[in-house]
Amino acid sequence: MAKKELKDVSVSGKKVLVRVDFNVPMKNGTVTNDNRITAALPTIQYLIENGAKVILFSHLGKVKVEEDLKKLDMQPVADVLAQKLNKTVKFVPTFEGSELEEAINSMANGEVILFQNTRFADIIDGNGQICLDDKGQAAAKRESKNNPELGKYWASLGDVFVNDAFGTAHRAHASNVGIASNIAESCLGFLVEKEVKMLSQGVDQPAKPFVAILGGAKVSDKIDVIENLLNKADKILIGGGMAYTFAVAKGDKVGKSLLENDKIEVAKNFLAKGKDKIILPIDNIEAPEFADVEGKITPDANIDDGYMGLDIGPKTVELFTKELQDAKTVVWNGPMGVFEFENYNKGTKAVCAAIANLTDAFTLIGGGDSAAAAIQLGYKDKFTYISTGGGASLEYMEGKVLPGIAAVQDK
Ligand code: 3PG
Repeated sequence: MAKKELKDVSVSGKKVLVRVDFNVPMKNGTVTNDNRITAALPTIQYLIENGAKVILFSHLGKVKVEEDLKKLDMQPVADVLAQKLNKTVKFVPTFEGSELEEAINSMANGEVILFQNTRFADIIDGNGQICLDDKGQAAAKRESKNNPELGKYWASLGDVFVNDAFGTAHRAHASNVGIASNIAESCLGFLVEKEVKMLSQGVDQPAKPFVAILGGAKVSDKIDVIENLLNKADKILIGGGMAYTFAVAKGDKVGKSLLENDKIEVAKNFLAKGKDKIILPIDNIEAPEFADVEGKITPDANIDDGYMGLDIGPKTVELFTKELQDAKTVVWNGPMGVFEFENYNKGTKAVCAAIANLTDAFTLIGGGDSAAAAIQLGYKDKFTYISTGGGASLEYMEGKVLPGIAAVQDK
């Protein structure tokens, strides 16, 4: 059944708890990429314009040790958000207790607050004490193990819960599932609605021909996606480190390339099941070591002894481009090579360009590294949609139910 949406809910004068995914990359206390903040603005602006008291919260990173309490403070995120909204965003430096409750109770309609990193509750227990195991690692885990008391407490702070954190939708945590299970009214925010619409168009109702491009380091990360897409896609183009396990399954030599020995059988089964649906690289760029040094193009799919494949080669780019030519739907997840290295970003760049040149196709990047690659390489506006969720979009592509969405009320 369809989930309740933001426009189905009355928000005026209400305390609206909004789970956003502001898990943004940071360097020395500065936000280095604000895409996820920008993506949440439509929901926040709508709530402001409609007179809600907007209470925002998110996780930031993984809170594992005590010093993460300094490193993963949300204050810099509040500053970026205030700039983008051109409005005061009150930052509350705690995630529970009287300071937070007073801040919420003194809000006027249309005001915005952001409270502290929800994952601080992974290291701070219910008595406000730092809780570590004997290895000095966070042991409270109240947010990430969906502690029932914490979900109930957060739910008690508001009237309505809006889940707009698509990137976190594959997690069943206290700040999404916990709150949704304990509040009178819940709905999806505009970003989550859009993500689901786009992913569903790309994966569940694709216009044909449907070509999926899968890359990244490991086959093990993509087994469920391949399984699901083999039933839906017309072609699956495979590049990146994971292609070498497939190459061995096919009988090619891979030198000292990344290889998952325990997944060779899985790859063999996929090749047998997929037949000519699965397209593998026919040449590579190889190097003697994992470094950003100039590589050498292999004449065919084989990698020389003592070398490792770090990118797809030009013949593969040509082949993949040809396979993409008539596609009406393209879904891409995972880079074609080590795109962080100048010498090995050509395959990923060429695949970006090939997709960007499709004028009549629905094109979707499923978050994570391939989204970062496309944005870094300057192709941000050339796709129909780039998901803000890495793990979440991957799980969607695997055909899994996302608990953060499932927990929200039906229409
Ligand atoms: C992400 O960046 O994929 C989401 O914010 C989820 O983060 P997590 O993998 O730390 O749960």
